[in-house]
Amino acid sequence: MTHIVVLGSTNMDLVTYVATAPQRGETVTGREFRTIPGGKGSNQAIAAARAGATASMIGAVGNDAYGLRLRETLEQSGVDTDFLRTVEGPSGTAHIVVDDEGGNAIVVIPGANGTVDHLSPGDEGLIATADALLLQLEIPLAAVVAGAEAARRHGVRTVLTPSPAQPLPPELLAVTDLLVPNEYEAVLLTDRTDPREAAAALLDLVPEVVVTLGATGCLYLRRGAEPLVVPAPHVTAVDSTGAGDTFAGALAVALAEEKPVREALSWAAAAAAISVQREGASVSMPYRPEIEKQYGA
Ligand code: RIB
Ligand code: NA
Repeated sequence: MTHIVVLGSTNMDLVTYVATAPQRGETVTGREFRTIPGGKGSNQAIAAARAGATASMIGAVGNDAYGLRLRETLEQSGVDTDFLRTVEGPSGTAHIVVDDEGGNAIVVIPGANGTVDHLSPGDEGLIATADALLLQLEIPLAAVVAGAEAARRHGVRTVLTPSPAQPLPPELLAVTDLLVPNEYEAVLLTDRTDPREAAAALLDLVPEVVVTLGATGCLYLRRGAEPLVVPAPHVTAVDSTGAGDTFAGALAVALAEEKPVREALSWAAAAAAISVQREGASVSMPYRPEIEKQYGA
């Protein structure tokens, strides 16, 4: 089995379902409220475990009820939580509005994730055993850089989802193998409005880039190779929260299994397409047999 290690966030998602998200100053009545485990780090670990890898999560939860549930959720999906610390104070929360088209807007309050600003004893040893280290930007940048540098020291592939979007410091780009922005993030990181141009600009900074394009699919660029455009299956989205995390987790597993790149991308797109048809982030992620079925369809 392949081994994926994730260094990142855990959040309890406080999700409001509403026909249309309110404008500033507007009050609207929504349809439903749910608390659903999420957080980009935890989501990616769960996606990888369900896709068939051994997955380990490095990060922190608070010593509150949410923290207990976040840890339990990871464990129920088979994620190893030995390196998930419990710290004093509240867990991270994400305040999410999902509209009738399955689109969302999110405010994240870091809570315990804010304490993950360095590697703790044992983290580097765990990272050294991985086939890939998955990173996002919901914990302090110092830890993201330290994790990626540790991975590089041990020849472990680093996969960075640059979300929430923010400028990436050179020391992080220097140790990033594969960058997986969505269209919005790719544009923000490069100031180019065309995703193809944005991806090409990103390729000056890292050796491999996948820009996820939502329902359209994704665009893959590697230095010295022809760009690949991989379509996504046509499905009706009810909640796209965590679709990018599902894609990243499944992609890392497929690449670690040495599937050819086009196949790996379309396998990951199949996983993401399943997740958008169900409510919530982590709970909507498919298990391997479901991905195989969608991929074969
Ligand atoms: O990528 C989706 C995730 O972003 C949600 O689960 C939420 O926690 C926010 O962090
Ligand atoms: Na979903």
